[in-house]
Amino acid sequence: MYRYLWSNGPKECLEFADYTFDEHFDQPIASYPPRAVLWDYIKGRVEKADVRQYIRFNTPVRQISFSEQSRQFTVTAHDHVSEVTSSEEYDHVIVASGHFSTPSVPFFEGFEGFNGRILHAHDFRDALEFKDKDILLIGSSYSAEDIGSQCYKYGAKSITSSYRSRPMGFDFPDNWDEKPLLIKVDNDTAYFADGSSKRIDAIILCTGYLHHFPFMDEELRLKTHNRLWPLGLYEGVVFVEQPNLFYLGMQDQWYTFNMFDAQAWYVRDVILGRIVVPEKALMESSIQEWSQREESLKSDEQMIRFQGEYIQSLIQQTDYPTFDIERVNQIFLKWEQHKHDDILTFRDHSYRSVMTGTQAPSHHTPWLEAMDDSLEAYLNPPNRELAQ
Ligand SMILES: Cc1cc2nc3c(=O)[nH]c(=O)nc-3n(C[C@H](O)[C@H](O)[C@H](O)COP(=O)(O)OP(=O)(O)OC[C@H]3O[C@@H](n4cnc5c(N)ncnc54)[C@H](O)[C@@H]3O)c2cc1C
Ligand SMILES: NC(=O)c1ccc[n+]([C@@H]2O[C@H](COP(=O)([O-])OP(=O)(O)OC[C@H]3O[C@@H](n4cnc5c(N)ncnc54)[C@H](OP(=O)(O)O)[C@@H]3O)[C@@H](O)[C@H]2O)c1
Repeated sequence: MYRYLWSNGPKECLEFADYTFDEHFDQPIASYPPRAVLWDYIKGRVEKADVRQYIRFNTPVRQISFSEQSRQFTVTAHDHVSEVTSSEEYDHVIVASGHFSTPSVPFFEGFEGFNGRILHAHDFRDALEFKDKDILLIGSSYSAEDIGSQCYKYGAKSITSSYRSRPMGFDFPDNWDEKPLLIKVDNDTAYFADGSSKRIDAIILCTGYLHHFPFMDEELRLKTHNRLWPLGLYEGVVFVEQPNLFYLGMQDQWYTFNMFDAQAWYVRDVILGRIVVPEKALMESSIQEWSQREESLKSDEQMIRFQGEYIQSLIQQTDYPTFDIERVNQIFLKWEQHKHDDILTFRDHSYRSVMTGTQAPSHHTPWLEAMDDSLEAYLNPPNRELAQ
């Protein structure tokens, strides 16, 4: 995650039902924490559950195959400390390797001769690099809105964002222009589908990511793009072609942490035999039903409710602590409204926790003025007298 990254959604939408922000921080905190604060929260939960001891760090999995004969998976991993590659047999495999780390990188005419820097959002590190620069963003989703806002905050001279299907449509500041798709670039100028052009210093491709599992044997590999209902996964997690294999968190995401939890509880119960998955034809018809519904969704509101309903259906099947999903949906809808009211100030709003009822305080500093993204700066109001 890049420097200065703050949560792009309210923490009240992602709060774990069994480990609340109140429990971790022992004081109410504002609704849009920067990355260090969210990291601390996740770490606290891992420490409480004492699961670190089960993780083999520095040991990437290189290959996973399945034998019909032994009904076992062979997992080959490389230990970077001992520099030893070894294989072990498992009854079940859960793939939780994420899907936001292999960049999708389009090519546009003239890239080969462009004089400035071209990078993907994945390689974006520090907005200060683009201070006083004219930057072009390709894409109109979360990365584009967030990297554009950060570059604005840290002093970019101008921001131009270019969309393929639909504009972000926010009321941007004067030095941020939204254009239709880029057609080509030459040495230092970008040309757009509406006939306009702009001199630019750098291009940031905010063009999303690929689901990429090079370590899975071909027949075990999930093949999907970023969507709310990836095909081939019963209940969004069980790999239909081999039901002892599970994929977690492969959905396009409104909900995040608590959706992953609901999925993990469900998978745990399948593995423990508390939930029995049906035969293949029934799994396929269930997937078909959900995906047909997904394809009919038109608005953000419908998509949020769809994902909420999915989580609800998982929670009902396990003992994950139940929570009021409709209230979380409502927070997402308010968040959407606040973004459309002002994309540069939406993080100044605060919400009430669905898990504890605690109302988050307003943050001590408006996001646009909060330059220090450390945990200490977030949790402690600045000493204004000393600062003067
Ligand atoms: C820039 C950015 C900002 C985001 N901001 C937010 C936000 O503000 N709020 C929010 O709710 N969500 C946010 N998200 C989404 C959030 O990061 C993801 O939903 C979340 O990280 C998914 O968790 P995960 O554990 O499934 O995957 P990841 O966090 O990607 O973790 C996957 C893990 O698998 C490991 N791994 C991968 N391959 C192998 C292998 N072969 N062998 C062993 N280990 C492997 C990786 O090293 C990593 O530790 C953001 C995403 C991005 C890209
Ligand atoms: N601060 C934060 O919390 C933060 C910051 C950044 C990202 N994120 C998270 O990161 C995840 C990924 O977001 P993302 O924005 O990187 O990916 P994304 O949501 O998948 O969006 C990809 C964007 O790239 C466009 N695109 C793809 N290929 C293109 C091409 N060839 N030409 C032009 N445009 C193209 C898409 O346009 P179409 O609409 O036409 O397909 C879309 O606008 C999200 O879960 C988000 O929450 C969070």
